[in-house]
Amino acid sequence: MADGGRGIRRIAINTGGGDAPGLNGVIRAATLAALNEGWEVLGIRRGYMGVLEPEVDGEAGVFPLNAHAVRGIAHLGGTILGTTTRGNPFGLEVRQPDGTWGKVDRSDEIIEAFQRLEIDALIAIGGDGSLNIAHALHRKGLPVIGVPKTIDNDLRATDVTFGFQTAVEVATDAIGRLHSTAEAHQRVMVVQVMGRHTGWIAVESGIAGGADVILIPEIPYHLDRIAEKVRERDQHGRRFSIVVAAEGASPAGGQPSYVDASGRYGGIADRLAEEIEILTGKETRPLVLGHIQRGGSPIAYDRNLAMRFGAAAVRCIKEGSLGTMVALQGAHVRAVPLAEAISEIKRVPLDDDMVVSARQLGISFGD
Ligand code: F6P
Repeated sequence: MADGGRGIRRIAINTGGGDAPGLNGVIRAATLAALNEGWEVLGIRRGYMGVLEPEVDGEAGVFPLNAHAVRGIAHLGGTILGTTTRGNPFGLEVRQPDGTWGKVDRSDEIIEAFQRLEIDALIAIGGDGSLNIAHALHRKGLPVIGVPKTIDNDLRATDVTFGFQTAVEVATDAIGRLHSTAEAHQRVMVVQVMGRHTGWIAVESGIAGGADVILIPEIPYHLDRIAEKVRERDQHGRRFSIVVAAEGASPAGGQPSYVDASGRYGGIADRLAEEIEILTGKETRPLVLGHIQRGGSPIAYDRNLAMRFGAAAVRCIKEGSLGTMVALQGAHVRAVPLAEAISEIKRVPLDDDMVVSARQLGISFGD
């Protein structure tokens, strides 16, 4: 096992949770930097599942990453390692003999497998869920470095996560394209963007895309305030409006819209479109941007951030700084304790400069 970096021979990399543009850039940077240290690098497929399922469809769950394997991947979306949102080794879903689903803790098997494979450190690339798992495994003895990934940008310890700016770019482009069709038909368009419990994507893409109303989980909305904004624009001859709603936004005193009991968000655009049409009498159309925000090539910002995070993770291992997560703080990439990184999610503050400035311009937050 790692001893302050001096005895490192072999490291592993995995990607967990929802994918985000830039994952391949981190894998490439970490692999090349590690190979340059003279270390061996192993890739683990589908989070930790590759360790638990040694072979699936003729593919090894754990395999060597060399320079050839990571060549030409920094601009590609997705992850060459695959990922899963159902791979928590502390509570893996399994079918019981009676047909019902139960959960089983296989975390000890992960620790044993890492010892058997003589892996000195793991670079775990993930969002809050995956970093919580990484932290729990670290507490059981696994030497881990976390790399913060998520389009939601909701990790507190880092100024920004990679993938976020690409998602903002995709959403901004989509919102921008709606202006002409909304204006041509004198309609209200309601665009639902991702972000889970936070409104980062909605705020940044809504402002950049020229939205008239932005709804985020941090600011419960009042339907009548949204209708008021739409009517006010009509009175000024602006007979169309664009509403950007974060998927987790909710009405004051009400609940967010969920797809099902699992807690997955969905439905806010349909719900709002119906309500706004009834209240304003204006034709209103919903649009759900969905996974297009996560797909495709990372923009330059995310490619470079991914590169910096991957290289920094290798520096952390070399310096023996384990149980940490690399984080962008100002101009620097630093290592912060994993426990601190996962302690709380980062929400849009009500006095956020973007929000305050947008309000000055007349953009409504539905409150
Ligand atoms: O966390 C990233 C994210 O894209 C969220 O914005 C969204 O709520 C969720 O994942 C969607 O999850 P899934 O890919 O399982 O539908």
